[in-house]
Amino acid sequence: MDSGAAQAIYFYTRHPISSAIILSKLRAARGHLDGVTPDELFPHDQDHYGGLAANDALAKAAHIATGSRVADFCAGLGGPARYLAHRYGADVTGIELTPARVAGAAELTRLVGLSDRVRVLEGNVMGVPLPDGGMDAVVSQEALLHVPDKGRALAEAFRILRPGGRLAFTDWTPEAPLSAADADLLWRGMAAQSLQSVTNYCALLKDAGFRIVAVDDLTPEWGVILAERLAMYRKLREEAERAGTPPGHGAFHESYVRFVALVQSGELGGARFTAEKS
Ligand SMILES: C[S@@+](CC[C@H](N)C(=O)[O-])C[C@H]1O[C@@H](n2cnc3c(N)ncnc32)[C@H](O)[C@@H]1O
Repeated sequence: MDSGAAQAIYFYTRHPISSAIILSKLRAARGHLDGVTPDELFPHDQDHYGGLAANDALAKAAHIATGSRVADFCAGLGGPARYLAHRYGADVTGIELTPARVAGAAELTRLVGLSDRVRVLEGNVMGVPLPDGGMDAVVSQEALLHVPDKGRALAEAFRILRPGGRLAFTDWTPEAPLSAADADLLWRGMAAQSLQSVTNYCALLKDAGFRIVAVDDLTPEWGVILAERLAMYRKLREEAERAGTPPGHGAFHESYVRFVALVQSGELGGARFTAEKS
């Protein structure tokens, strides 16, 4: 396993959002877990910026509709995968590196009765366990930032798409290389590495064979969203400390504070890329 994979697994195994935390919140709110619907999970199971609206933007960009075969790269707990299946009638296969995330995704998907249309496979997006040309769309949200060789992941997306299929993803996009201190902090605290500017990403997409359809700058809206997420993580940390449970990965909080400041200053941007296998 490469050091990037090991760091991502370390980070996500200790992440402040987990299936156990989601289930305990639901149990506390409704008294039991009988008959939980996908809609009840959605406020808790989306680990990206912008919640369900961000999923809708990707679905629109990638032309996802009833029956679309979709791969979700770095699917996490399967929140976006379940949303695309439930809201759009898509059949979604997630690829996820962290074993605890894969198990959590299966548990949550089973709970809401979507296992026939959503599955999250344990795997690395640099070598996807899916055949050539079988997907109508590939999506990914705030996850390629963990992947050491983004060109390989984009080439895998191209390989598994059918001709005419679309890739739509969002990711961090620094304007210029970060300082060594910031890069180190974001690596230690959030397993971020090999970050690419918009220009570099466009070159990688073209190298993989894609035609670029659109690039949307998300930096201003992320600045607002991330301030809210930081407040949420602080609250989760305080709740964990009060409950006497481990408050998560210490370096995460330090790096998240710096990450939010970098986005708000515009040094670190965010973008949505839409590309087609023509
Ligand atoms: C920010 S979470 C996003 C989860 C999901 N996309 C969502 O929006 O809820 C990033 C996920 O990427 C996974 N990941 C990191 N590197 C990966 C890789 N090389 N291959 C597959 N998954 C990876 C992590 O384990 C983590 O669950």
